[in-house]
Amino acid sequence: MLTWDDAPATATPSAPAAKMPPPSSHAAHGAATGLENLEMGASRIRVDDKKIINCRADLNQLVPFKYKWAWEKYLDACNNHWMPQEIGMSADIALWQDPKGLTDDERAIIKRSLGFFSTADSLVANNLVLAVYKHITNPECRQYILRQAFEEAIHTHAYQYIIESLGLDEAEVFNMYREVPSIHDKAAWSLPYTQSLADESFHTGTIEADQRLLRDMIAFYVVFEGIFFYVGFVQLLSFGRRNKMTGTSEQIQYIMRDEAMHMNFGIDVINQIKIENPHLWTPEFQQQALDMIKEATELEIRYAHDTMPRGVLGLNAGMFNDYMKYIANRRCAQIGLKALYPAATENPFPWMSEVLDLKKEKNFFETRVTEYQTGGALSWD
Ligand SMILES: [Fe+2]
Ligand SMILES: [Fe+2]
Repeated sequence: MLTWDDAPATATPSAPAAKMPPPSSHAAHGAATGLENLEMGASRIRVDDKKIINCRADLNQLVPFKYKWAWEKYLDACNNHWMPQEIGMSADIALWQDPKGLTDDERAIIKRSLGFFSTADSLVANNLVLAVYKHITNPECRQYILRQAFEEAIHTHAYQYIIESLGLDEAEVFNMYREVPSIHDKAAWSLPYTQSLADESFHTGTIEADQRLLRDMIAFYVVFEGIFFYVGFVQLLSFGRRNKMTGTSEQIQYIMRDEAMHMNFGIDVINQIKIENPHLWTPEFQQQALDMIKEATELEIRYAHDTMPRGVLGLNAGMFNDYMKYIANRRCAQIGLKALYPAATENPFPWMSEVLDLKKEKNFFETRVTEYQTGGALSWD
């Protein structure tokens, strides 16, 4: 059985592009941007003209589709639309205000999680809009990225809504990524991987540049969204499992569903770039990717220890050693890398996949999950 993060990753990868049309007269550096001057009477787009990177065909024409998986993810994401203020927070507010409602360790975990997530989703959105988007030269992928960017805005909105509802010190929470070392270290790790693409002088089209794009996409889609969110997700969902902070947990449930799709989209894009550009996937490059994932996994384990020096909510930091290694192996497999931690074969939190299946666990949080459905489908597998 597939678990939620096992991904409806690209079932049938598309074949490499057959033949390139001549470059547009205004396409700087070879790849199209979508902002070139129009050529009256230019030949019509053929599906084989399309490529994920370094495409020279008109980017303003969504069809004919080449990457149907990208369009389908866009449609699924729209079906999953939700808004933070539709989720009731009154039980959370009452619990937070009750001096005996939560322990100091529980309060610390909530604040640290909000501290990481509240700025992380803005960072991801800025990476998409200012760094990644312009280098992805395919309209159906761009359509999904535009949707993803809005979802990142919704996630930042959700964190702000929780922080405001609980009456937390906003300055304290939003500054944690500059003041709390284990939160800072994750954000700081990721920044070089977006700054390089955002650099105005950076253009794809050489092996070195295309590898840089691929590397940076692995950093954000596989590591940032696929590894760095997972200690926080487990911690916050563990409150909901104990019928505490149910509104916050429900927000996280919807965010995690979105994030699973973001990651799966990124993995599909990475794998399609590999198919179209097999010369980029050298042994050296694979080792570089493995080193990145290992470094990030260790940072996430450190974050777990920092946020929960003592056992709480039935969790302890040691469980996250096993969990993050298990997750790292999953991520490696999803992009065709060997397992980093061959011994880590057990998921210590099997409920993570079950809790996300709202159809199975519809009474899980006893909020309004059962009735909630603005856009339709709530399943993501
Ligand atoms: Fe997000
Ligand atoms: Fe995301």
